[in-house]
Amino acid sequence: MSSQLTRRDWLRASGLMTAGLSLSRFAPAEAASTAEQAQSAFTNEFAFTTPPDMPKLRARLFANENPLGIAPSAKEALIKAADIGNRYAWMEFGQLKQLLAVDEGVKPENIMMSPGSSDILMAAADHFAKGGGTILTSTMTYDDLLQRAEKFGAKIKAMPMTKDFKFDLPAIKANITPDVKMVYIVNPNNPTGTIIPTAELEAFCREVAPKVPVFIDEAYIDFYEPADRPKLGKLVADGLNVILARTFSKIHGFAGLRLGYAIAQPDMLKTLHAYTNGEFAVSITTLMAGIASYKDKDWQNHCRAENAKARTYTTKALTDMGYEVIPSSANFILFPIRMKTKTFENQMFANGIGIQTREFSGQPYCRVSVGTMEEMVMFMDGFKKVVG
Ligand SMILES: Cc1ncc(COP(=O)(O)O)c(C=O)c1O
Repeated sequence: MSSQLTRRDWLRASGLMTAGLSLSRFAPAEAASTAEQAQSAFTNEFAFTTPPDMPKLRARLFANENPLGIAPSAKEALIKAADIGNRYAWMEFGQLKQLLAVDEGVKPENIMMSPGSSDILMAAADHFAKGGGTILTSTMTYDDLLQRAEKFGAKIKAMPMTKDFKFDLPAIKANITPDVKMVYIVNPNNPTGTIIPTAELEAFCREVAPKVPVFIDEAYIDFYEPADRPKLGKLVADGLNVILARTFSKIHGFAGLRLGYAIAQPDMLKTLHAYTNGEFAVSITTLMAGIASYKDKDWQNHCRAENAKARTYTTKALTDMGYEVIPSSANFILFPIRMKTKTFENQMFANGIGIQTREFSGQPYCRVSVGTMEEMVMFMDGFKKVVG
């Protein structure tokens, strides 16, 4: 992972770990300084164990969460499910898998539920790192899986992105050697927000997956307009070794409730399952809320539209100030800044605005999650103050 700053490196480099602020999505907004840190059970991140001690954030724009919360229908289902909290979830998995399978054009056996997609990512990292080998990916992408795989013995080969900050699929294809155990693609990509043309991605999978498993992290797929959304389930239905990772953390607002799933060949799911705590790690309350939220297309459309509105506003406001914003198809925006990452971050946080920064090839960037319109106005105000 030499070509990019890992999340942990970034936390350290940004001084937020020592300054006491973790941007882990598992830490509270006002999490703060302490030497006592407990390692999170299933990621490489740290959760803080002592109470926070820093200014309250007015806008929490660092974890790509849904600022509108969970659907009212999901909340109702969640409360109702508390009545059956004494029972193991059983049939309910089948109900959600049926719904998903119909929409994705796969069989329920092609689906494995999990408490968030991180579990799927970690299982794949553990499995494909075993015995060494290479995981092929791109620079400027989400690195949780990559860091974990590297920790357990895999080499990470990250190809540069295209000039417009997209995965360079021809370059990845040209670098498939016998040593490559898996290809990791994120679409839409985090942190660039860019998407790969669907036809190109599909053709890539059809050519590459017969040789090497292709893992596509689709955490932000729900921000596509439904009509444009890639339907890669058909690759799985055609028997290809493609693993799709999905999450309810984003448009459904389940980041804290924890629900995700993988779509893949049954054998692959069985393999990955062995590295997880099993589907029962998902609570009945989350599962029932997930079913309600999945059926609630109106809420999803509302969240998508609000996100697009606030994203357009922020993109325009930054562009008007002369910043080159990378066109985003997700719920966050990446753009190059003209200050050192640490200085910028500290000053934004001091103004009550939580964001993330990255540095790629010596260029500092800000990644701001798309919050409510009100939060984005606050972000722009804070940004103008900080950059002068
Ligand atoms: C690209 C990507 N994949 C996976 C995840 C993991 O999300 P979760 O474990 O909440 O499903 C995230 C979280 O932000 C992400 O950005």
